[in-house]
Amino acid sequence: MHLLPALTAAALLAAPLGSLAAPAGDASSVPQLFQSLQARENLCHLQTPPQLCTPDPSVSVEETARRAYQFYRAFVVDGDPRTMFSLIDDVYQQHNPGYASGPQAIWPLFCSGRKIGNEQGTDWCFDAATNMSYARYSTIDRWRWVDGCVHEHWDQGERFPTEGCYELPTNATA
Ligand SMILES: *[C@@H]1O[C@H](CO)[C@@H](O)[C@H](O)[C@H]1NC(C)=O
Repeated sequence: MHLLPALTAAALLAAPLGSLAAPAGDASSVPQLFQSLQARENLCHLQTPPQLCTPDPSVSVEETARRAYQFYRAFVVDGDPRTMFSLIDDVYQQHNPGYASGPQAIWPLFCSGRKIGNEQGTDWCFDAATNMSYARYSTIDRWRWVDGCVHEHWDQGERFPTEGCYELPTNATA
């Protein structure tokens, strides 16, 4: 009776703990882990994302690149569902066959603010030539940006770009 919830909790903890694992002997990752877990926001009491992205054709390429970085941070590093979904439009065309399209279909996966990894062990890229952004962690996700919002998603057989990633001004990622 109590076994299943325990296993689920263990499975949920395994991913972030594993991906945050530091080289042997590095104790600094422990306080960092607890700090991160405290900073995240759990919004699972909400049935729907608090705010979605409103498409705006006037959003510049640089602003889209900045948003792509914010999206990666919110999704992978910070576990910040409020910011993450504020950058997704109401279409979110899904190419993973396990999920329906639309932000609502993935809200239960992210509402708890679960972190996936830290900035040292993961990476992001925005390719302005295609309007695609990428996140690399234990897998590789690709999103297409339209009018300043995340509009479409792939996560099967993706390749992380080796060139063409937009260089943000250094103060934008501070
Ligand atoms: C990328 O988005 C910009 C607007 O930010 C648009 O002008 C451009 O045509 C798009 N490029 C592609 C390849 O879709």
